[in-house]
Amino acid sequence: MPDLSVTVHGLRLSNPFVIASGPPGTNANVIARAFDEGWGAVVAKTVCLDASRIVNVAPRYARLRAGASREIYGWENIELISDRDLGDWLDDFRRLKDRYPDRVLIASIMEECRRDAWHEIVERVQDTGVDALELNFSCPHGLPERRMGSAMGQDPAILSEVCGWVREVTRVPIWAKMTPNVTHVEEPARAALHAGCDGISAINTILCVMGINLDTLRPEPTVEGYSVAGGYSSKAVRPIALRMVMELGTMMFGGGNGQPILAPGQPARPGEFPHATLHAIGGVESGTDAAQFILTGAHTVQVCTGVMKFGYGLIETLREGLSAFMARHGFQAVDEFRGHSLQYFTTHAELVRLQTERGITHRTDDANTASGDSVWEGDRVTEQSERLARN
Ligand SMILES: Cc1cc2nc3c(=O)[nH]c(=O)nc-3n(C[C@H](O)[C@H](O)[C@H](O)COP(=O)(O)O)c2cc1C
Repeated sequence: MPDLSVTVHGLRLSNPFVIASGPPGTNANVIARAFDEGWGAVVAKTVCLDASRIVNVAPRYARLRAGASREIYGWENIELISDRDLGDWLDDFRRLKDRYPDRVLIASIMEECRRDAWHEIVERVQDTGVDALELNFSCPHGLPERRMGSAMGQDPAILSEVCGWVREVTRVPIWAKMTPNVTHVEEPARAALHAGCDGISAINTILCVMGINLDTLRPEPTVEGYSVAGGYSSKAVRPIALRMVMELGTMMFGGGNGQPILAPGQPARPGEFPHATLHAIGGVESGTDAAQFILTGAHTVQVCTGVMKFGYGLIETLREGLSAFMARHGFQAVDEFRGHSLQYFTTHAELVRLQTERGITHRTDDANTASGDSVWEGDRVTEQSERLARN
């Protein structure tokens, strides 16, 4: 039986599956349920010093479904961070650590861009005994209007300053949660790590508009006839999250991306932060989804919308799927394959060179190789597209 346990910054998790900050970690009651079901750790819903300014609306979710099966594969939310009083949260953290001393509890915090505010929230929260802090620099809606959340995460200079303030007073590991709503996710991540963060979590939700209701001509989710762009999560975001985790993994641990291949197993590009940790998030619903994030460098894999869709029992599916993947490849421990696939990302020019080296002629209509642009035909466009697809 493969060993699913992982250790990050001295914290031992019985498995790499972590509840991501959001509704599944929104009070002591649901966090206890996650621990009872066997999740490796929980990141609580994001807290701030003055929750009286956090006012949520209802409805606040809208979903994208597949035609016939009605399966939900995209999820928009316009939810803010926690509207619960910080004092109640501090009681919750203390009670949870008393009841589950061996389980890993991570608080997620967010504040305005003031040194005293960040110092105060860090000190009050870490005094409860939580094991680590996740800094939410990534909430894409509502809070950026107050220069919080992704407004900070999109600006490496501000991020660096804030992470430095947090580091000044923090005794526990800290990881910075990245917004995907940037062009190069490595830039803010690099700034956070240089400023003293121990790890990076990615991704938060992607800014989106779920749709326009064609009866009312108003956007969804509609609140009194109006809406706002929200954050996109669930299955549909997984390839984007995987790309960003690959980019972060390459930057932090090394890999092939952007470089010619040297030799199998030999990273073409050295990592800049080999001792930092990476916490992948985005559309995970199965053990094989998680395995792909670990192969691109993740130490842990967080799940939010998957739990909202399937409940806390999803942990069983995740553990079984990851164990089966590991058994198939003979991996005894998660660290044996973490980051393995980073070496296989390279440049497009390198792909052309490798195929040419194998004698493959490009710009042909050969079904076994590639189709040149001049051979596409109106009547065969679906068949030709199909032929160029890998799965
Ligand atoms: C309804 C909802 C509320 C969320 N609230 C928070 C939050 O308070 N803090 C935070 O860092 N991320 C929050 N997130 C983002 C998730 O933690 C996660 O980064 C994102 O949803 C992608 O993962 P998923 O596809 O597994 O949901 C929220 C997501 C959803 C769907």
